[in-house]
Amino acid sequence: MGRQKNVRSMGKGEYIVKIFLDTADIETIRELGEMGLVDGITTNPTLIAKTGRKFDVVIKEICALVKGPVNAEITATDAAGICEEAHQIREWGEQIVIKIPMNREGLKAVWKLSKEGIPTTVTLIFSVPQAILAAKAGARYLCPFVGRLDDISSEGTSLLYDITTVLGQYPEWDCEVMAASIRHPLHVVEAARAGVDIITIPPKVIDQMLLHPLTDRGITQFLKDAQLCYTK
Ligand code: E4P
Repeated sequence: MGRQKNVRSMGKGEYIVKIFLDTADIETIRELGEMGLVDGITTNPTLIAKTGRKFDVVIKEICALVKGPVNAEITATDAAGICEEAHQIREWGEQIVIKIPMNREGLKAVWKLSKEGIPTTVTLIFSVPQAILAAKAGARYLCPFVGRLDDISSEGTSLLYDITTVLGQYPEWDCEVMAASIRHPLHVVEAARAGVDIITIPPKVIDQMLLHPLTDRGITQFLKDAQLCYTK
């Protein structure tokens, strides 16, 4: 069962899960944007490092390309430092969401920033209790990690069902569940079944989702048969 809150609060044409791209690669964002597949972006220091470019340069470029939320992760470890970094980062684009790891100092910063109207994502969520605390602290987005739980032989997708079930008890609670650490297409399917609001998907998984051998075979056959009956 999806969260009833979503169905009630969404406008016409928004009754489908949102897709964020889990990448900092500009060309990929541009290309997938042409397919309408970019409702927002998530980055983390690992993804930014992969680009070989500076954090601020990459985030500014993404903001110029994407209208929706752009998640940029802080690196300060104390609440005051996180808030200071958040204010600096927010100057790079008004759609920037400050991504903050789940811990004590992180939640202090989330609470303070939420009072200032600055949206935050609490990342590295691995349990329902953590999700409850992050939501209560005022996070706009909760980011449970599926693949990293699978990596330690714990069922990542179960966490998604548990979180959407718990938050579904409180339909007025104004935060969104964003499934992260997505490693393959079945994670996407399970996240959608669990009724999450957003799935942040790496480009490699989008590629996998696009493909089916029967589609390729069908296109080849149709093109071959078209030679027989379509005039040019
Ligand atoms: C997104 O916000 C997360 O940083 C990302 O999904 C983590 O994915 P990984 O576990 O594959 O590194």
